[in-house]
Amino acid sequence: VREAEGHIRTRMTEVLAISHPVMSAGMGHLAVPSLVAAVSAAGGLGVLATSTLTPDEVRDSIRAVRRLTNAPFGANILLRSDQAAAIAAVVVDERVPVVNLALGIDADLVAEVHRYGGKVVSTVTTVRHASSAAASGVDALIATGHEAGGHGGDISTMVLVPLLVGCVAIPVIAAGGFSDGAGLAAALMLGAQGISMGSRFALSAECPIHPSVRERLLTSGASDTIVTDQIDGLQSRVLRTELAQALAAAHDYAEGRVSPGRDTFAALRRGDLERGVVAIGQVVGMIDDTPTCAEIIRRVVSGARQLIADRAMEFSPPT
Ligand SMILES: Cc1cc2nc3c(=O)[nH]c(=O)nc-3n(C[C@H](O)[C@H](O)[C@H](O)COP(=O)(O)O)c2cc1C
Repeated sequence: VREAEGHIRTRMTEVLAISHPVMSAGMGHLAVPSLVAAVSAAGGLGVLATSTLTPDEVRDSIRAVRRLTNAPFGANILLRSDQAAAIAAVVVDERVPVVNLALGIDADLVAEVHRYGGKVVSTVTTVRHASSAAASGVDALIATGHEAGGHGGDISTMVLVPLLVGCVAIPVIAAGGFSDGAGLAAALMLGAQGISMGSRFALSAECPIHPSVRERLLTSGASDTIVTDQIDGLQSRVLRTELAQALAAAHDYAEGRVSPGRDTFAALRRGDLERGVVAIGQVVGMIDDTPTCAEIIRRVVSGARQLIADRAMEFSPPT
């Protein structure tokens, strides 16, 4: 890591051809073209959500991002979804610069993306998944800790990041629990090459989250989330609402009483917390405003630079 002119350049910024080591998560329902373009135009990597779109909508969204910015951007593909193959075909056809694979591994897709010069970043939550993803040829990993909003694993970011840094040669991007400059500085100290943030960008000026959900999140604390596998069968962290707690307690999913296709996460846009749940991370407790994406990135990068410089002075003051 070296610092230069207000920038922090790392292997993440080199590999992804971006200015700042910060990316936004491909959040279903929220990571729409305006949010993605705002992050990318500010020098980070905006990642488009595709799992809640049809393949045609994915193509339109990719083109919409390109109308808004010339900067590199990414597209998230949930490999577990029924539409994954059709969506991947569109993403490859449109030559999206960075493909973010989650909930699986697909070496053939990695090779296809590399053929047109794209990069692939895999979201992982365990050492085993990280090793398989690295073996499939991806260019970087997003190490997603237990703090993270949405789908996640059991290992905390603090432990997962250095574990993965120690076992793969490709850049590791830390995710789960990041919102500010101290977080980026800490991630870099753990050996990560940058960070990916979901919850922080969910509460940005450009995010199309429903205003009532936004207000609720701005007053939520770090203990106001729960982890359950009863939303869609996979472990995910969501806001502690009455519905979320009832779903978790009912075990309907475990007992096969719920169809996998139900669109529980759509409350993010509709605002009806009686009928849907809100994926969000523990870091919601550290967030109390909705700045623009450019301002978020500026705060995170300049905050990290300042902290790293100040601490170095503090620990070894000039003699
Ligand atoms: C509202 C919301 C929706 C999400 N949707 C997706 C998704 O569609 N695909 C995906 O790979 N991850 C999704 N995630 C998880 C993020 O990729 C990421 O792991 C997480 O936001 C990082 O933790 P943080 O929220 O503490 O920043 C979502 C997260 C949130 C908060």
